[in-house]
Amino acid sequence: MERWTDNIYTEIKNYNIPNHIAIIMDGNGRWAKYNNLSRIIGHEKGIKVVKDIVKICSQIGVNFLTLYAFSKENWQRPEIEVNALMYLLELYLISEIDELDENNVRMNFIGNMDDLPDFVVKQINNCKKRTKNNTGLTLSIALSYSSRLDIINATKKIIKQAIYDTSIIDKIDESLFAKHLTTHNIPDPDLLIRTSGELRISNFLLWEIAYTEIYITDIYWPQFDKEELFKAIIEFSKRERRLGKISEQL
Ligand code: IPE
Ligand code: IPE
Ligand code: MG
Repeated sequence: MERWTDNIYTEIKNYNIPNHIAIIMDGNGRWAKYNNLSRIIGHEKGIKVVKDIVKICSQIGVNFLTLYAFSKENWQRPEIEVNALMYLLELYLISEIDELDENNVRMNFIGNMDDLPDFVVKQINNCKKRTKNNTGLTLSIALSYSSRLDIINATKKIIKQAIYDTSIIDKIDESLFAKHLTTHNIPDPDLLIRTSGELRISNFLLWEIAYTEIYITDIYWPQFDKEELFKAIIEFSKRERRLGKISEQL
C-alpha cells in the first residue's frame, strides 16, 4: 500500500487549484478501437487512469473530485459491456479501498444505487463505512446517475413535505432545492473536464454546473494523465469567473 506524498509537482504549485473538479471520463471505447483492442480493455485502462488522477488530485490539494463512471443511460449498452463494467467497478473498489482509506480519501457515491447489482452495492457500502470519518479528498463516483432524475427526485421530496406543511412552498429557493439533491453534501464543481472531444454534458450535474468552468480535451480518457490534468488546471487558472458581474467589480 502506498502512502501518497504531499504535492511534489512544483509546476502546478503557483496555479489556482479548483476546490472541486468534476470529470466526464469519456472515450474508453474509441481509444480501444483505435488501438485494435476490445472496449473492455479500454475500460480497464480507464480504471488505471482513475487511480492516477485520484492520487494526483489528492496530492495537489483538490478537495472534491467527482467522476462520471456510469450513467443511467449506459444500462442500454450491450449486456456483455455492462456486466464487464460492473465487474471492473467491484474490482476497483475492492483493490483500492485500503490505499484510499490510508490516504484519508472520503468516498461518496451519487446516482441510483438501487439499480446496481448486489455485489457492487456491498463494496459501495463498505467503502462509505470505512472512509466516512476521513477528512482529505472527497471522491464522489456517479453510478447509474441521471441529473434529470436527481432533479425530479428532489422535487418529489419537497412536494411530499409541502403536503404536510404548505409554508415550505414559499421557502423554496436555490439553497433549499440543492439540499434535496444527491449532491447536497458536496459544493458545486469549479471545473468540469470532459475527455474525448464531445461537446455535451450527457445528463451530468445539470443543476450543479450552472457556473462551472468547462474544459474539453480531444484526448481519450485512457490517455489522460498528469500533464493533461495540469493543462486543464492551468487553463482554469486563466479564466475570469465573473458570475454575472463585470471585470472591474471582481
Ligand atoms: C466512457 O467511455 C466510459 C463509460 C461511459 C462507462 P465510453 O465507453 O463511452 O467510450 P466511447 O465514448 O465509446 O469512446
Ligand atoms: C457519459 O459518456 C457517461 C460517462 C462518462 C459515464 P457516454 O459515452 O455515455 O455519453 P454519450 O452517450 O456519448 O453522450
Ligand atoms: Mg462515450
